[in-house]
Amino acid sequence: MSAIDYAEKIPNNVNLVGDRTLQRALEHWQPQFLQWWHEMGPNDFEGANVYLRTAVSVDAQGWAHYGAIRMPDYRWGIFLADPVAERKIGFGDAMGQPAWQQVPGEYRSTLRRLIVTQGDTEPASVEQQRLLGHTCPSLYDLRNLFQINVEEGRHLWAMVYLLHAYFGRDGREEAEELLARHSGDADKPRILTTFNEPISDWLSLYCFTYFTDRDGKYQLKSLAESAFDPLSRTCRFMLTEEAHHMFVGETGISRVVKRTLEVMKELGSDDPDRVRAAGAVDLPLLQKYLNFWCSSSLDLFGSEISSNSAANFASGLKGRPDEGQYEDHVLREQTLNLVTPQGASDVPMLNALNEVMRESYLKDCEIGLKRWNRMIERAAHDFRLSLPSSRFRRSIGAWAGQPVNPQGSPIDKALYEKSMPGWIPSEADKAFVHSLMRKVIEPGRMAGWIAPPERGINNLPLEHEYVKLH
Ligand SMILES: [Fe+2]
Ligand SMILES: [Fe+2]
Repeated sequence: MSAIDYAEKIPNNVNLVGDRTLQRALEHWQPQFLQWWHEMGPNDFEGANVYLRTAVSVDAQGWAHYGAIRMPDYRWGIFLADPVAERKIGFGDAMGQPAWQQVPGEYRSTLRRLIVTQGDTEPASVEQQRLLGHTCPSLYDLRNLFQINVEEGRHLWAMVYLLHAYFGRDGREEAEELLARHSGDADKPRILTTFNEPISDWLSLYCFTYFTDRDGKYQLKSLAESAFDPLSRTCRFMLTEEAHHMFVGETGISRVVKRTLEVMKELGSDDPDRVRAAGAVDLPLLQKYLNFWCSSSLDLFGSEISSNSAANFASGLKGRPDEGQYEDHVLREQTLNLVTPQGASDVPMLNALNEVMRESYLKDCEIGLKRWNRMIERAAHDFRLSLPSSRFRRSIGAWAGQPVNPQGSPIDKALYEKSMPGWIPSEADKAFVHSLMRKVIEPGRMAGWIAPPERGINNLPLEHEYVKLH
């Protein structure tokens, strides 16, 4: 098990050759996907040779194979984590019963919606990032961007496989729609707001991969708990790829902080204007980018009180991330004290699961913040980066539209509106960041606003030509 068949048109470890109808249907979708990649994928880099990793098996050891290939030749395929023998449902009212190998009729539309919503984010992020290659700060970063892009393309394959294999004609139609919606499109936008925000600079890319891919991690972890076993196995393998995306975000921001501290030291000043004049990202500006992308990503968890998440949990469709770490997996007796603008109240835990997930997500986000603040502290500066409160700038849930400052305190609406350009990137801030974005493609060299990474890819030196442009 777990070997991937690369002799097939569509690489897979699901024995596609044993189901001719499904194979034909996916082979029909494949050229549409490639056409989408051609039109909406990384702009102008189809001829470049990129040092990419490709999965060769799904076990923990050597699934990654590295080699230089053109992105359109990447072997997108269908890879599921190995089945767990006699897997049982781990939460909800059907806890302890055998996991489902087929979709129960009563959950068909809900499961389809969960899969489509997850699937929609994958190509959306490729579309959001399609112009970034033109302003890469180094070949190392360019390669990482493309690695993320091809893997998000594969995550789309993962969801499309489930739609085709388990949802019949509806599933096939949804698979087509996944290529028809586009990020930021006025008529046919992507489903979730965050995935319609343009990512036109690399500081936004690092924030997106830090905050938004981490939301992805939490969604995938909760779907990996699903009673629907093919979904669980699909998400478990996707998580192994997702870790690299968050690595790009965390190390990207670390490198920005490192470079900024070097510039502050050279200048003997922490004056933001002087830091900017020296071509670096001042720390208050970085804070604004963190505020923007963190608050935008917090909305992705949904409303604090949600009957959908209660139903999805009770029926076994979607668990909590790392369900095994909890004692109570049924949650019919528990409550959670929730503070909304109307005051504090105890709500049934089942209805508050989005909030439970949001809280553990924020804890995970804190890890990078601590690291960056240690760097700032070691450089003997008082400034500290922080995460915005989960009440700040929300457009979904109990705090939607509420005038709340980044610390979480309700304030006067006029003051809120006046203060916003000081909390999230203003037009002038964005213009400054864009002015820093200049393509650097000499092997081993870095743009002036970011420090080099600590090591290269797969033990290669930093000077390696990770992308051969011609
Ligand atoms: Fe993904
Ligand atoms: Fe990702």
